[in-house]
Amino acid sequence: MCGIFGYVGKRNNAAEIVLEGLKNLEYRGYDSWGVVVEGGEGLTVEKKVGKIGEAKVSLPSSNVGLGHTRWATHGGVSVENAHPHLDCTKTLAVVHNGIVENFSKLRKELKKHEFVSETDTEVIVHLVEDLIQTKTLSEALREAFRKIVGLNAVVSLKGNQLVVARNGSPLVLGLGEGEFFVSSDASAILPHTKEVVFLEDNQAAVLDAGGIKVLDLSSGQEIRLKAQKLDWKSEQANLGQYPHFMIKEIYEQPKVIENIVKTSEKQVEELADLIQRSYGTFLVGCGTAAHAALVGQYLFSRVARRHVNFNVGSEFGYLEHFLTPKSLVLALSQSGETIDIIDSIKNAQNKGARVASLTNVLGSTLYRMSDYKILLGAGPEKSVCATKSFTAKIALLFLLSFALGGRKREGKEVLEQTLKEVKRLLREENVKAVEKLADKIKDKEHLYIVGRGLSYPVSLEAALKVKEVSYIHAEGFAGGELKHGVIALIEKGTPCVVFAPRDETYGAIISGAMEMKARGGYIIGISFEDHEVFDNWLKVEDTGDGSAVTNSVVGQLLAYFLAVKRGCDPDKPRNLAKSVTVK
Ligand code: AGP
Ligand code: GLU
Repeated sequence: MCGIFGYVGKRNNAAEIVLEGLKNLEYRGYDSWGVVVEGGEGLTVEKKVGKIGEAKVSLPSSNVGLGHTRWATHGGVSVENAHPHLDCTKTLAVVHNGIVENFSKLRKELKKHEFVSETDTEVIVHLVEDLIQTKTLSEALREAFRKIVGLNAVVSLKGNQLVVARNGSPLVLGLGEGEFFVSSDASAILPHTKEVVFLEDNQAAVLDAGGIKVLDLSSGQEIRLKAQKLDWKSEQANLGQYPHFMIKEIYEQPKVIENIVKTSEKQVEELADLIQRSYGTFLVGCGTAAHAALVGQYLFSRVARRHVNFNVGSEFGYLEHFLTPKSLVLALSQSGETIDIIDSIKNAQNKGARVASLTNVLGSTLYRMSDYKILLGAGPEKSVCATKSFTAKIALLFLLSFALGGRKREGKEVLEQTLKEVKRLLREENVKAVEKLADKIKDKEHLYIVGRGLSYPVSLEAALKVKEVSYIHAEGFAGGELKHGVIALIEKGTPCVVFAPRDETYGAIISGAMEMKARGGYIIGISFEDHEVFDNWLKVEDTGDGSAVTNSVVGQLLAYFLAVKRGCDPDKPRNLAKSVTVK
């Protein structure tokens, strides 16, 4: 959801650097964009509606620039509403991520200004404009920021200086050689430097040719820089020889699992101990992360005989009455910025509960707020749809459940078996079989995906993948629910994907497949062996509880090929953002 990128430093092609930075933030989702530079004769701005694509900007040379990709919340999608927004003197520019909840009141107080947009953001630039009459940009921006209510990140540009502030919406600062960066996330800074500072809530910073100063938002007191080194390689953030990030990240999954098997033992033990000592563990996540959390509930039950609660992040606020200081909330979030998760853990911590997290982004809000955290180590996930981060969460939950069940070695062995099968599934002949299936069903309007037990959350996740990248209406459901309603929708030729691993659900799920076939359904069996009920069979070797990973890989491939064959962009699906940072 939206993005900010700023540059100040030794190079004088700030506009190109900023535009490149915005392109690296495209995956976050946006509807319009803009760039501003200080070219010597004041500010020059270029703003456009739509995707950046191969756009070039025709802006003057400059050593300082600022850009924004907008995901509209207040005011339609238009050039006027795109950021950056300028003050009345056209010498000050502001970009903003978030929502100014008190913008109506502020707009009334600023009515002597000429507003040119419908956005909430524009009140910020006029607030700073008034304050800067008697204050420095740093003082003015910090005071203006304290006047706005909500979860926001703001960056201002005046002269050769950028001043930034954040509360609840991420900002990362990059420390280069004689050049400095600010971005909504680290992956856009990665091509320039790995030295980063994750700004914390209620902090501001001043960036100019001399460097970066981090300040306390209220007092203006300088705070010691806490630089961290990103452990990502910049090629991980690039497409390489792949046509899309989604397929690249699907193929990266074996490496992600290998890394977890090799490096996570100690942290898994520590987290297992935390769970052991808690009285009530709550697994929470949103979207794909919710499906991973639900897989966790099944794994803890089957493998560790341990009851853990599962909640969708956005619902947790209505169900958290059981939280006590002995509770543990285990939050799952690739971005570590999903507002429903951040709100959940804030409430949990207010009730004295401990918070642990599995997240992929070092320095993210969730990462910094958690009492205990494990990084997924999956590398930057640039496709809006989650694939390798899902697998990484399952792999960690897998090892956690076996560690809790006192079966660590077995857990590692089963995960290594699973890894072998994932590699086999990604071999060309097997990928082609999935592509062939996608060709057969690509024009269908509806797709039903069913599983039982551990395959039930796998069905939900496969359905989410299909709907979010191909726009086919895909519904995942528990096999036992077929006769409680879903079967009314099965008619001649309706494609029905059936997850039938070799486990306790096999018999019942095959019966369900028979019932759907009897109504004309086209049955797609994802199973260890063929069966007469299957009209199309995709082989997935038995890996015991590892089926949550192997079956999900088939679901990801199916979703990818359906998207591509329907002419959709799997990396930037319409209306979706990589991280949902506003309620
Ligand atoms: C998954 O493919 C979607 N992009 C979406 O459901 C995502 O999983 C959800 O928004 C949660 O994101 P998070 O893991 O960054 O918290
Ligand atoms: N609320 C601001 C607007 O609608 C910022 C939206 C965003 O975060 O991109 O312009």
